[in-house]
Amino acid sequence: MLVSSKELLLDAQKNGYAVGAFNTNNLEITHAIIAAAEAQRAPVLVQVSAGAIKYAGIDFLSLIVQTHAHRARVPVAIHLDHGPDFETVMLCLRFGFTSIMRDASKLPFEQNVAEIRKVVEAAHALGVPVEAELGRIAGAEEHVVVSEREKTMTDPDEAAQLVDLSGCDFLAVSIGNAHGFYKGEPDLDFDRLKAIRDKVSVPLVLHGASGIPDHQIRTAVGLGICKINIDTEIRHAFTQSVRQTLAEKPEEIDPRKVLSPSIAAMQAVVERKIELFGSQGKG
Ligand code: G3H
Ligand code: ZN
Repeated sequence: MLVSSKELLLDAQKNGYAVGAFNTNNLEITHAIIAAAEAQRAPVLVQVSAGAIKYAGIDFLSLIVQTHAHRARVPVAIHLDHGPDFETVMLCLRFGFTSIMRDASKLPFEQNVAEIRKVVEAAHALGVPVEAELGRIAGAEEHVVVSEREKTMTDPDEAAQLVDLSGCDFLAVSIGNAHGFYKGEPDLDFDRLKAIRDKVSVPLVLHGASGIPDHQIRTAVGLGICKINIDTEIRHAFTQSVRQTLAEKPEEIDPRKVLSPSIAAMQAVVERKIELFGSQGKG
């Protein structure tokens, strides 16, 4: 069933687990995410970035996700990931998204607050919760490109102010996490996460979770992370599978036979993450 992300994340917060938020761009990835959620009886967020909208078209992509959500035996939310501007937010609200991230983290603090406030007013009028981000997350995710040098971590006092002033429902934090594959072992700042947790009551979100070792993910969940974003590991499973199939069967011309094995490969990745996040059996 299609649900609001807010009920999912509040339950996660209350019961000490995290809900997986998995990025989709097409039918095969969406199939894999929902099949994994059903196999694990887990709630799940299927998230769509501005890049995914540009690639697939919002009408096609939202229908694919929502058709799946309506049929699913587990709760499914459809979420805008890293919303780049107010227009994209409004488009997603019009197409029935059940949560919205407006990423204004590259703006100065006051402008970030003002942007989120504006989105909160529009989205809350429709009962849709809003995710904000404070601090800059390194790496590249679609249009979001931040160099290592520019990276700044979330300040706990500013985090509390941003939540109070903007009225946002969830907060994405920057604690050493990065989009894309990590160069070397990631080193999350758990003292900072704890300080943020002590000052902020809304569910916290961890972006850039592909490649973070399991023990660090468990610690982050224990310290209040309730939503965990995964994109890169799914992309990797998809493309590795397609490469392997074509290498084994270079004569194959049926796209269905090339793409079908990739669904199982992506499903395996998502199922493993669901178990790691502790959300299995929570749907
Ligand atoms: O918004 C999406 C995520 O933060 C994806 O992170 O590149 O580590 O999979 P990832
Ligand atoms: Zn992200």
